[in-house]
Amino acid sequence: MIIINKNKFLLKNSNISYMFRATESGNLEHLHFGAPVDIDDDDALAVRYGTGWGTNNGPEGEEIPMYLPLEWSSLGRGDYRESPLEIDREIPAAFKYSFSRKYDHTVPIECGLPQAHGDAETLEIVMASPSRLSLHLFYTLFDTAVTRRTVICNNTDRDINVEKIMSSMMDILGDYEITTYNGAWIAEMQPYRAPVGMSGVVNESTTGFSSCLHNPGFILSEPGATETDGIVMGFNIIYSGNHYSRVQKTNEGLTRIVQGISPVSFDWILAPGEKFETPEAVMVWSGSGFGGMSDQMHRFVNNNVIPEYWQGRERPVLYNDWEGCMFDFNESKLVSLGKKAAELGCELFVLDDGWFGDRNSDKAGLGDYDVNRKKLPGGLSGLQKKLSAMGLDFGLWFEPEAVNPDSKLYRAHPEWAIQAEDGVTVLGRNELLLDLSRQDVRDYIVENVTRCIDEGKVSYVKWDMNRHSTALGASAHRYILGLYDVLRRIFGPRPEVLLESCSSGGNRFDLGMMCFSPQVWASDNTDAVERCRIQYQLSYLYPLSTIGAHVSAAPHAQTLRNTPLSTRGNISFYGLLGYEFDLADLSPVETDEIKDQIAFYKRYRKVFQFGDFRRLKAPDGISMQVSEGNIAIVGLFHEIVHAAPGYERIYPRGLDMETIYNVFSRRQLLNAAQYGGLLRHILPVKVRPDGALVRTAGRQYRMKDAERECDATGAALMSGMSLNARFMGTGYDPGMRMQGDFSSNIYVITTEES
Ligand code: GLA
Repeated sequence: MIIINKNKFLLKNSNISYMFRATESGNLEHLHFGAPVDIDDDDALAVRYGTGWGTNNGPEGEEIPMYLPLEWSSLGRGDYRESPLEIDREIPAAFKYSFSRKYDHTVPIECGLPQAHGDAETLEIVMASPSRLSLHLFYTLFDTAVTRRTVICNNTDRDINVEKIMSSMMDILGDYEITTYNGAWIAEMQPYRAPVGMSGVVNESTTGFSSCLHNPGFILSEPGATETDGIVMGFNIIYSGNHYSRVQKTNEGLTRIVQGISPVSFDWILAPGEKFETPEAVMVWSGSGFGGMSDQMHRFVNNNVIPEYWQGRERPVLYNDWEGCMFDFNESKLVSLGKKAAELGCELFVLDDGWFGDRNSDKAGLGDYDVNRKKLPGGLSGLQKKLSAMGLDFGLWFEPEAVNPDSKLYRAHPEWAIQAEDGVTVLGRNELLLDLSRQDVRDYIVENVTRCIDEGKVSYVKWDMNRHSTALGASAHRYILGLYDVLRRIFGPRPEVLLESCSSGGNRFDLGMMCFSPQVWASDNTDAVERCRIQYQLSYLYPLSTIGAHVSAAPHAQTLRNTPLSTRGNISFYGLLGYEFDLADLSPVETDEIKDQIAFYKRYRKVFQFGDFRRLKAPDGISMQVSEGNIAIVGLFHEIVHAAPGYERIYPRGLDMETIYNVFSRRQLLNAAQYGGLLRHILPVKVRPDGALVRTAGRQYRMKDAERECDATGAALMSGMSLNARFMGTGYDPGMRMQGDFSSNIYVITTEES
């Protein structure tokens, strides 16, 4: 609910109370962001902020903004902290509170930026300046989050240069640590945590896109906050372009948080009568630790960001041909992969790069949409029909925003590509970006992509983008608006086509893309152990339903790690399960293991994709839980085993104390060949580690990993459930876990009949 009481404003949902007021001199004073308060809780707020701050020495008795916690600030008003707005110096930009409006819904953004949707209330604060510029601060209150955005209107009779305009600004009291997520290609989501000091921390992208160098989402937590306790706030922005956030503390102990479009190269000319609308900044608050914050972010993304059609809708188990085939395939190879994928239980076959133009490597063909008839003589529809006869839906890869200079499109329209201003062509992955701020470029993309989708009865699109560019300069924001226009025109009329966004892996893991694309390819790094860490870090800000996660080959192409198939599957469950390697290489044992994995995932898919998510205590490794109703599923992932291991336990959470649950581990099949010559200790015959017997055993013989089953109360389980012992060199026992390095197990805790 949003309450307005004279000059005070309170936004309150079941988690967050957000209060501020307009002072007599027209400043917007921040009063509270956090635990529940009421609009009349003046006493409580006096305890929080005290009185007398910033009331002396101002001109004509005004406050000195420098010492006030504010909701907006302007240059030239005695506030030396970061300003959320920079426009032409000669225009006075001292905004004062004018009036407010309340809506019982979201207020549409008119410039084409995507925005959060669903049940909400909105408060509009209108600020006026003597120069006849006006500012409109929109606060939208959802069940879980508050979003903020800013609109500046030019009511003057001259052009205004907007050099910087933030979506939100807020000053809060207290000491905080900031966590940002940084990285590179195949090394996404590396957390960085640091105290917020007086020098501040900037989280910014300047590659033209949201980028994996610095994911737009970040967290503020009070020192000592844990997974379950303490104040933790999550922030993000619904935008896919250059983003900027800065968090900085002052000498007085106020922390200023600004979020918006990066001002680097930003320059927007606002003509008389025009307005500029910023993207929506998102904030959540939790008094119950990182877990509480993630829970709210997950709910917000699932309920208010991803397209309505896909809310709570289960996602298909897919097979993608990229890592198995790269550019080297033809229809018969794809059909035989399809047969195997269908036999395993996959529901969707995705044809990745290489199906069009002269695209036999990444050097040519991008920008063209004519199907390569040498590879696919029956075209897209020919392949689709064959896959459909096997019960598989058809998915297709596109990279519509870029062009290879060696393509028909570039030869016909070199002027459509974005070139650096100095005229020197700089390629990234042999590509240039197309200028999506041009209507003719957008029309070309919309026309061709929709034709292919419709012709091929495509039910899933992987929308890739492998070229970042600073050459976008001041037109970077126009490019992003162009991208949203293209996505809206293609997928708006086709809501049932599942869109998975990708940008060299996780380079565009952002809420702007998620408004169109309910899932995102998390990383080109498909090594299961690395992926576990990437998915785990993503879970802080994004729900599992958004995280594309595939089982790939072992040894792995990027790390050479030989991760057991059971672990490769188990990790992908904590995301959206898919398979991405040459299925022709599968042994009979591996085929059985994958069938088991897919059947298991399908049975619990709703819990994995949309259940409540928790990061659990795990003394050695990573542990994650999903739960819904009377089912909780705990995954435990180890890296390096150590000799003489002690008792190991899992620590589920959120169970009913008195209910008796049945616990069982997912059945896993082990590759007997991995034990080499050790098999001689359990077999009656002598074996050679590299001999035919071991090799045949590896392909044909299934060894079951130790299974665990028990009944126990929720109270007992939550105090730590002991696991079967691990193998420790003291002889073979079928009751032991026998997996070695990079092992994992999944435990189902349920009151359902198994
Ligand atoms: C990018 C993507 C990959 C794959 C290739 C195809 O790298 O991230 O998943 O689609 O392009 O060229």
